[in-house]
Amino acid sequence: MSTGRPALEYEATIRGLRARLAEARAAGLTVGFVPTMGFLHAGHCSLVERARAENDVVVVSIFVNPLQFNPGEDLEDYPRDLDRDLETCAKAGADLVFVPDTQEMYPEPVATTVRLGTLADVLCGASRAGHFDGVATVVAKLFSIMGECSAYFGEKDFQQLTIVSRMAADLSLPVRVVGCGTVREPDGLALSSRNAYLSEAERSQAPVLRRALEAGAALVQSGETDPTAVEAEMASVIATAPLAEIDYTAAVPASTLTADGPLRGDVRLLAAVRFGKARLIDNIGCRAG
Ligand code: PAF
Repeated sequence: MSTGRPALEYEATIRGLRARLAEARAAGLTVGFVPTMGFLHAGHCSLVERARAENDVVVVSIFVNPLQFNPGEDLEDYPRDLDRDLETCAKAGADLVFVPDTQEMYPEPVATTVRLGTLADVLCGASRAGHFDGVATVVAKLFSIMGECSAYFGEKDFQQLTIVSRMAADLSLPVRVVGCGTVREPDGLALSSRNAYLSEAERSQAPVLRRALEAGAALVQSGETDPTAVEAEMASVIATAPLAEIDYTAAVPASTLTADGPLRGDVRLLAAVRFGKARLIDNIGCRAG
């Protein structure tokens, strides 16, 4: 069935992408942008579909950014499948896929990076030092290449979404950052490229993460405002899964991501758990007080 749109195009150079975007803007078209590291799943598709619904032109980038991996993390093993990703992008409604290689993005050893404040030191930043500086650096570069656009990020990576939104505001980047709801498997597991690492036994226990967040939210909704009590409740649920190794559970104000006394207003409950090689993260929002 024809979608009425021209076929998906593919661009590997910054110069080429800028030229295409300049043409689109000269024609008065709005641009939606979905940055990814590839190995796309239904969560990414939901971002592309939202971008499709809100913009004239939709660009997806696929780039496994070495700056956001620490030594010993899964940069080399990070799952990749470009042919399947291009097919997925076409089906989800993208017009153009930007697929630079590392030489194109970082032709010289990187001398200029984005250095984030306290938002990057907590939660995932506490166990992945420098990770969010690497994310912010590549996102700032991608935003600079893209120019004025709306950029779509999943709430599954809530800390990343918070940091990127704040960076765009702090640096007056011409990008509207749009957060989109988490897409889940029927048993509640949030979709993630890293779910590919789970063994059958780990996969069967992984939904405990979502159940822990729901138990935390129920406690908050019942009137609990002590973050430590909520964090302990979530940890106790995760502890029922023998293959789970908790990195953190957290109950924090949604805007600062750092506990500052009793919970009130918009709260985010977050957790990171290792199942073997896979480090899974998830979060939900609730209201306290
Ligand atoms: O969420 C991701 O896939 C990555 O962190 C991003 C935003 C594409 C930057 O490399």
